[in-house]
Amino acid sequence: MRLLAFGASNHSASINVALVRHASARFKEKYRPDAQVELLDINDFEMPIYSIDREKSGGVHDLAKDFYARIGASDALLISFPEYNGSYTSAWKNIYDWMSRIDRKVYQDKPTVALAATPGGRAGAGVLGSVEASAPHFGMDLRATVGIGGWGNAFDNEGGALVRPQDIEALDAALAKLV
Ligand SMILES: Cc1cc2nc3c(=O)[nH]c(=O)nc-3n(C[C@H](O)[C@H](O)[C@H](O)COP(=O)(O)O)c2cc1C
Repeated sequence: MRLLAFGASNHSASINVALVRHASARFKEKYRPDAQVELLDINDFEMPIYSIDREKSGGVHDLAKDFYARIGASDALLISFPEYNGSYTSAWKNIYDWMSRIDRKVYQDKPTVALAATPGGRAGAGVLGSVEASAPHFGMDLRATVGIGGWGNAFDNEGGALVRPQDIEALDAALAKLV
């Protein structure tokens, strides 16, 4: 099984990358030791801001084709979405907009668990709400969402793992739905 994992953040110290790294390791350890995990860094897919004019003059950017192909080659997706002003980061939205010009079903019907990590207490309710509302329109087979709020108390940076029992339980229950 090939699991494609990424944090939808271009922050060098991203808490969402930390969460998705932990979650993908946990998935392998607890559910599928045979899983091949590919952890993508979205900084490797930075492109000019999508515009219809750029697409008309140069076609869909090669990096968007590359990302889309990696989704296609995977069996399941594990994504952690930062919340910026109640929604996606522009870094991710740009990659997403480019990929949507290949196919509106960007997620290609892959079973997906969507996570969010935030320092505050709302635990990414805004961005996860957007993910839930849009999933059926963009080919995301959304199995579960888990928001981790109060990140400073939720994650042990040295051990690289969640610490609160209720978060660990929620993550494990979500990951089980990818099996
Ligand atoms: C432009 C901007 C907007 C933000 N908006 C929100 C928000 O709406 N809700 C929230 O919980 N946190 C918000 N934050 C705080 C982020 O959750 C925090 O910076 C977090 O570290 C981002 O995740 P990342 O480290 O994985 O990139 C915002 C941060 C920035 C820079």
